[in-house]
Amino acid sequence: MSHKRTEISILLESESERENVLIQGWVRTRRDSKDFFFLELNDGSCLKNLQIVVTREISEFETLKTIRTGSSVSVVGNLVASQGKGQKWEAMAKEVALLGDSPENYPLQKKRHSLEFMREISHLRPRANMFGAVFRIRSRLSFAIHRYFQKNGFFYVNTPVITASDCEGAGDLFKVTTIDMHEPPRSEDGLIDFAHDFFSQKTYLTVSGQLEGEAFATSLGKIYTFGPTFRAENSNTSRHASEFWMVEPEIAFCDLQQDMDCAESFVKWVTREVLDTCQSDLELFFNFVDKGLEERLRFVVERPFHRVSYTEAIDILHASGKKWEYPAEWGANLQSEHERYLTEEHFKSPVTVYDYPKEIKPFYMRTNDDEKTVAAMDVLVPGIGEIVGGSQREERLDVLLENMKHHCISEEDYSWYVDLRRFGSVPHAGFGLGFERLLMFITGMGNIRDVIPFARTPGSI
Ligand code: 4AD
Ligand code: MG
Repeated sequence: MSHKRTEISILLESESERENVLIQGWVRTRRDSKDFFFLELNDGSCLKNLQIVVTREISEFETLKTIRTGSSVSVVGNLVASQGKGQKWEAMAKEVALLGDSPENYPLQKKRHSLEFMREISHLRPRANMFGAVFRIRSRLSFAIHRYFQKNGFFYVNTPVITASDCEGAGDLFKVTTIDMHEPPRSEDGLIDFAHDFFSQKTYLTVSGQLEGEAFATSLGKIYTFGPTFRAENSNTSRHASEFWMVEPEIAFCDLQQDMDCAESFVKWVTREVLDTCQSDLELFFNFVDKGLEERLRFVVERPFHRVSYTEAIDILHASGKKWEYPAEWGANLQSEHERYLTEEHFKSPVTVYDYPKEIKPFYMRTNDDEKTVAAMDVLVPGIGEIVGGSQREERLDVLLENMKHHCISEEDYSWYVDLRRFGSVPHAGFGLGFERLLMFITGMGNIRDVIPFARTPGSI
């Protein structure tokens, strides 16, 4: 008897019959005949199950005959060509052991469950076909992201999760503190005295690794971060999570054009990589989640993205003759309805919008010559809207200081960031890609809660 289990993914790809393999997994279904029964076994290594044939010759056949959906079993058997239709291989069991029984109240009985119900059992849902596929693709996509940057000369930097700065300046920060909320230390004016807090000042969970990323780009040249970020924005939408993963490349000696080129090539490359490495899992989404998905992904990989300035985008929105819930006026943020119109209806393709009004953007973006816009860009894709947000950074010391003053950002608090402009400043640019949004785009899943192992959203943890 072999002692190490062989994954079902490997067995199903086998070139020849195999003797005495150890197979371990969870029972999806059992089908009974008079002198034998079939177990559909899944071990998570792939979407497909392996059919196990258990005959009367097996000891304890009568007890095993009652094995229930969800139980875990260990099987030693021979991999043989299947007599039945629908599968090439099956396993003839020689020994079967029940590891863990699963009573009738196991929630994942064989029937269709709503996605809402599945969210309530996020600890069990990865055992369901669709979620197994989502999370296997999630893993492959992570790896593809690292591969893209590593093969293109970027270094992976781990920026801090706890930080004292607010990169986006939007105030969506989770506070990090060890102060006793019932008896906080107070200064003379009666306010809470954060000098007595753990880090001797106010600290937060990071909303972006960009600022620290800039320090490393302006020393290692090309870097990327890939880690969790946190936003306390009270947006209960299908695209916002309070904890999500962001990929943030930062490139020295780079302008907005090159930044947009990088974002486009990156999204294309990782999408193609998933198309190439996750075929069988993707088919579930092509067939059961979104009929137009395969075509859309191929389109994204093969065709150039459109590019329009923010000003042109506003003109397009005006010319559409549509009634918007939020007006599309120059100077206002593009709302989700505007973004989706541009990418889904007008261009029918991914589109990169650039040169946004200065007033609606954070302090670090580079001011354009018109003084009204900044060198910012967003990549919008059908079905989601924004998946990438980036910019060229302000590298001119005087302009940066001016912008900081305008945004009421203390030079003292950000002196380390300003130093990057004091000592050997260079043009540089980068972007942030929402990892879950890309995963939604690739799988066609409509809700960010369904592509995160354990989602955190307002009011729900
Ligand atoms: O556009 P954002 O806010 O950009 C930044 O944070 C920059 N500092 C990035 C940079 O230039 N290095 O966020 C970047 C991306 C968005 O385009 C979106 O895909 C995703 O992060 N994102 C979210 N994803 C899920 N839930 C949320 N609440 C998100 N907020 C942003
Ligand atoms: Mg953005």
